[in-house]
Amino acid sequence: MSYSPYSLSFDFFGLRRIMKFKTIEWKGDHVRLLDQRKLPQEIRYLECRDAPAVAKAIRNMAIRGAPAIGVAVAMGIALAARKIRSNRPEIFWKKMEKVCHLMGETRPTAVNLFWAIERMKRALNQLHSEDVEGLKSKLEREALRIYREDLKINHKIGENGKILIQDGDRVLTHCNAGGLATAGYGTALGVLRAAWAEGKRFHVYVDETRPLLQGARLTAWELVQEKIPATVITDNMAGWLMEKGKINLVLVGADRIARNGDTANKIGTYGLAVLANWHQIPFYVAAPTSTFDPNLSSGNDIPIEERAGEEVTHMGGRRVTPGGVKVFNPAFDVTPHSLIEAIITEKGILRKPFIKSLRKLKTK
Ligand code: MRU
Repeated sequence: MSYSPYSLSFDFFGLRRIMKFKTIEWKGDHVRLLDQRKLPQEIRYLECRDAPAVAKAIRNMAIRGAPAIGVAVAMGIALAARKIRSNRPEIFWKKMEKVCHLMGETRPTAVNLFWAIERMKRALNQLHSEDVEGLKSKLEREALRIYREDLKINHKIGENGKILIQDGDRVLTHCNAGGLATAGYGTALGVLRAAWAEGKRFHVYVDETRPLLQGARLTAWELVQEKIPATVITDNMAGWLMEKGKINLVLVGADRIARNGDTANKIGTYGLAVLANWHQIPFYVAAPTSTFDPNLSSGNDIPIEERAGEEVTHMGGRRVTPGGVKVFNPAFDVTPHSLIEAIITEKGILRKPFIKSLRKLKTK
């Protein structure tokens, strides 16, 4: 059976395409997630009926990708509010504090998660209300707003970035920065979608992205459905392909960007940036401005998530390493700004020095 994640109809935002298989959906009494651990073999949904279930889905990567995590956190908080029985504001606030803390503990690197928590807290604080039902509705509206905004932002990133893609390009991407990693459409893949929709023809090389294979499983799935020509390679092949002239542009997403442009993204991104630099190939990052962390002056302070060793020692449920061997499994690395040609955002393309172009963006 072939699945198309997008249908060619117009949605109510006037955006070109809407997801047939939605990454995440607010269902009023639960949050429905496409379980990304099962893709592409199985299209299976998870119904999260309370905030701990949403937190668990983020932790175990049923939903992943920085913007999608932000949306999930917002919906998880709105869901927690819905489930509070008491009408006493002090109990409501206490429980809200607790759920924000729970969400903040799920994954440490993607700043969109903390950004979404702050947005939800701000929404609550703007409404100095004793009316608990009113607060619940306010949180629900804010979560849906974050979801819709993300969709729009991704389309804008696509429109802004498509100018960087030319006919005949051979693009390398890493991990999954597609519709599955966002509310829909994608950041890096959004740029490719927009360029393709405009009639540009190019080829995408997809790093498999060990250990969890977000490239081989998820990015490849999205590109196949879009009929954008794609070739999966193992992570250790990129350098040789560059040497052979098979890649002329690298395009990735981001999990957190410091004020100077240093960018955290899936482990392996830094290596690609070094290789691209050596081969004089432009290295682009696509991300919403919510991925910028205004509190960090450089990438040195970006917290890097370390995940369970089993992700490395096992493949498809089977151990591939000898028992007793040590494992190191950082989920992200940081690419220094000097290796990045440009950062594509919904507000425009940022060029170096990023500190300056970011400042300009804010004053616009
Ligand atoms: O561990 P993951 O799968 O959540 O990592 C995802 C990435 O590194 C993506 O490239 C990033 O979040 C950008 S998604 C638009």
